[in-house]
Amino acid sequence: MNQRPTTNDQRPNIVLIGFMGSGKTVVGKNLSSILSRPFIDTDSLIEQRQAKTITEIFDQDSEAGFRKLEALMVAEVTGKKNQVISVGAGAVLDPKNADNLKKSGILIYLKTDFSTTYDRIKASKNRPLLAASGSRDDMQALFESRRITYESISDYIVGTMNKSPKEVAEEIIEELRSDGKI
Ligand code: S3P
Repeated sequence: MNQRPTTNDQRPNIVLIGFMGSGKTVVGKNLSSILSRPFIDTDSLIEQRQAKTITEIFDQDSEAGFRKLEALMVAEVTGKKNQVISVGAGAVLDPKNADNLKKSGILIYLKTDFSTTYDRIKASKNRPLLAASGSRDDMQALFESRRITYESISDYIVGTMNKSPKEVAEEIIEELRSDGKI
């Protein structure tokens, strides 16, 4: 019996990725409460630290300024284990962020179809890329280009259509448990 006991602190993070409106935050909160793990939402933490909304950061510091803050936040939060982490939809497009997240845990892509996603986010006032996008078609092009990255880097792909956030969280837990990942 040489195996060292696994403490809670050493369990891999569960990292939720996916397009805007895919349910990362709400599913993350459900996972966090079912598993009794801390929940970290990188966008919310950035807003708290900067005392500004994401929109204000984009307005004042441009998207590049936001991406720098996001990369620092991803590096910081991936220094700890045993968390549920939800990241902004663009975070994993930066290979360094994707690498940090992958090393810290299990990447789960919440897959939703574009129409559903768009219907959820179209009235949002705190999504600068949506505000800047010329049209639904532009958003769809962004969705399609990112989908390829999400699919290629994720460890699990979980469809969210016609499921409640709690059902999605339970499905994730069931899959991870049956694979001995948590
Ligand atoms: C972004 C998504 C947003 C937020 C920022 C940029 C993106 O997060 O990080 O507005 O690049 O798609 P959500 O995925 O939570 O909307």
